[in-house]
Amino acid sequence: RPRVLSGIQPTSDSFHLGNYLGAVRQWVALQDEHDAFYFVPDLHAITVDHDPKTLAARTRNAAAQLLALGLDPDKCTLFVQSHVPEHAQLAWVLSCITGFGEASRMTQFKDKSAKQGADRTTVGLFTYPILMAADVLLYQADQVPVGEDQRQHLELTRDLAQRFNTRFGTTFVVPEPYILTGAAKIQDLQDPAIKMSKSASTPSGIIELLDDPKVSAKKIRSAVTDAEREIRFDTAAKPGISNLLTIYSALTDRKVSELEADYAGKGYGDLKKDLAEVVADFTAPLRERVEGYLKDPAELDRVLARGATRAGEVAAATLASVHEKIGFLPPT
Ligand code: TYM
Repeated sequence: RPRVLSGIQPTSDSFHLGNYLGAVRQWVALQDEHDAFYFVPDLHAITVDHDPKTLAARTRNAAAQLLALGLDPDKCTLFVQSHVPEHAQLAWVLSCITGFGEASRMTQFKDKSAKQGADRTTVGLFTYPILMAADVLLYQADQVPVGEDQRQHLELTRDLAQRFNTRFGTTFVVPEPYILTGAAKIQDLQDPAIKMSKSASTPSGIIELLDDPKVSAKKIRSAVTDAEREIRFDTAAKPGISNLLTIYSALTDRKVSELEADYAGKGYGDLKKDLAEVVADFTAPLRERVEGYLKDPAELDRVLARGATRAGEVAAATLASVHEKIGFLPPT
């Protein structure tokens, strides 16, 4: 079975629709036919300012959301990154074959650090993509299901895998990105020129999965559209309406062209009202399931412990082979 791996950061109290439609939905679909590893990257979460108590709660909450969204710990390996120390160990080795210039070209780093200023930007944020490469390569993943915004990081991951293999002998599988067209880029409701994002968007631009459906409905009602009246998919001329159609289509598994036909002659208000219902039908039961998982944190921790054990076995084998290849004296 081909292996897949992916992660989602515990940096907010709720995942948003972009996270789900761009990534987690594919994770759920892939767990049946693939050897799937999914994890909560808490090491990545501390590359920006964080509050320790909140991080622990959000890490559990992320696991609860993943289970509620359909990950089945009997089908996939679900774990927390810091429970498998090999991630940080491999990241060090990879950082020693990464060029400083190469790392400096990562656009997410450039954007985030420009916003924060050099003095508030950590070295951890700079090496973040190298840690991400370690996450993927440790598990010899064939495919990595992510949204469009992670494409450049996966390019770096592939480059590092190939470079290591060439210099030290074949060690890593060179992974392929698994990025869907359409849902891989859900845009901000208030500014459809930018992606929906926990860090960049205003609260009203993001539909959080754990929002009260009334709150989501209000956000959808106030989503930015355009001065025309026609409901038509056209990302250049009508980015707002196109984004709403993308979300609608993804959540209902209906083609955008069908939706366009259905809404011919109807107004933006009708589209928004119906979309709010579609979103509520999805999120209301989800909220209940998440609460259910959070009521039993001990059981949640047991699931994560089992995942860490399984992940640790794979990770340890890869790291041992890496250490041998680069000439570290084996411990006795
Ligand atoms: P993160 O936590 O920012 O996002 C989790 C996943 O959601 C996708 N995503 C989106 N997809 C579509 N539209 C959007 N607006 C949108 N916003 C986010 C992301 O592409 C991602 O797939 N660096 C990663 C976490 C990570 C990782 C890894 C992923 C760490 N190690 C190894 C894969 C493999 C991140 O910050 O994702």
